[in-house]
Amino acid sequence: MAILTFSNPSYKDKTVYATAGSHTESVLKIARENKIPIDFNCEDGNCGTCLIKVTPLGSKPRMAGPLTDKEVSALTELGKISKDDVDTMRVDDLPTVWRLACQLIARDEELLIEY
Ligand code: FES
Repeated sequence: MAILTFSNPSYKDKTVYATAGSHTESVLKIARENKIPIDFNCEDGNCGTCLIKVTPLGSKPRMAGPLTDKEVSALTELGKISKDDVDTMRVDDLPTVWRLACQLIARDEELLIEY
């Protein structure tokens, strides 16, 4: 079960939402279902509007990788990741802290999602 904590400085409270089951839903879909106002546009990893910062919480190891090619392209265009970051991500097999909510599938982990 994924446990997601959504946080935004414009909203004082943090809210924890849990998802269970098949781990096929994107963080953006979970946010929308729970009325978390993450901005979005294309919902397909192209525009970068749904940029989020992801920090692992709790003791479970980090999962939720790798980034799709579209996500790498959008995050590079936004200046959030460099070629070195991409190389490190692929060698270490760990995702970067910057993600696109429409591309990130929550897995069995606990994450802080800043939007
Ligand atoms: Fe466009 Fe996620 S909504 S990249």
